[in-house]
Amino acid sequence: MSLQDKRIVVVGGTSGMGFATARAAAEAGARVLVAGRRQDRIDAALASLPAGAEGQAADITVPDQVAALFARAGQVDALVVCAHAGESVGRAIAPLAEGDLAAMKAFFDAKFWGTVQACRAVLPRLTAAGAIVLVSGAASRKPLPGHTILGAVNGAVESFARQLASEIRPRRVNVVSPGLVDTEVYAAMPAAQRTAMFEAKARALPVGRVGRPEDVAAMVLHLIANTYVTGAVIDVDGGGMVA
Ligand SMILES: NC(=O)c1ccc[n+]([C@@H]2O[C@H](COP(=O)([O-])OP(=O)(O)OC[C@H]3O[C@@H](n4cnc5c(N)ncnc54)[C@H](OP(=O)(O)O)[C@@H]3O)[C@@H](O)[C@H]2O)c1
Repeated sequence: MSLQDKRIVVVGGTSGMGFATARAAAEAGARVLVAGRRQDRIDAALASLPAGAEGQAADITVPDQVAALFARAGQVDALVVCAHAGESVGRAIAPLAEGDLAAMKAFFDAKFWGTVQACRAVLPRLTAAGAIVLVSGAASRKPLPGHTILGAVNGAVESFARQLASEIRPRRVNVVSPGLVDTEVYAAMPAAQRTAMFEAKARALPVGRVGRPEDVAAMVLHLIANTYVTGAVIDVDGGGMVA
């Protein structure tokens, strides 16, 4: 599938992997619509995206806002969901007995139920050759310290995608599962701690570096274009599964 003139909606398209995906899709000629909760981040994203890209403030946990987003989108060739409640991640990563249960639930509500709501809303508008690409995370299958709930949420996204791929055939559903990727989600960490974490992870990975948003964007675009792939979960993790 060529992306030229295709309608692609990127939820969570104002930051990190979603923004990189929106930019790559727009540069490939797609008619991109990015969504996120905050208008200031949408404005900043649109200022950096190629002319013609559109944005709409929408919280995927709020049904009316999801409906308005897809009403604006019209017929959709591809939906990409990269959203997560970034502000709750720091408090959700903790041993189960010590973690902030409200933050863990907020992460689940935004990432899993938000994804479900976005997918449900797009179905009446998704073309017969259309594709959905979701983003999970390596903790779905790789034990990582403090990731009990994040892993479970990402596993739920992967399981949902496999079932949906069977249910809505011939339309396709795939998942990209990233390892550590340097995005704004780590911006709140003290710089020295963040640098030390990235350097330690880079040393541990077979590829010798942490991920960039563009690494994930390239795989998302491939999964939109490759019409022989559905129901798949693709690791883009620098070899984290074999580290
Ligand atoms: N970065 C990593 O190392 C890593 C590793 C494994 C998996 N992942 C997963 O990869 C995906 C992308 O992560 P990232 O690091 O690129 O994220 P990010 O930079 O924090 O961006 C998150 C995006 O989601 C939007 N968003 C958050 N809540 C939303 C909601 N309720 N409705 C609509 N939009 C919402 C944000 O905009 P607003 O804040 O304006 O809403 C922003 O555009 C996430 O699912 C994350 O869990 C990340």
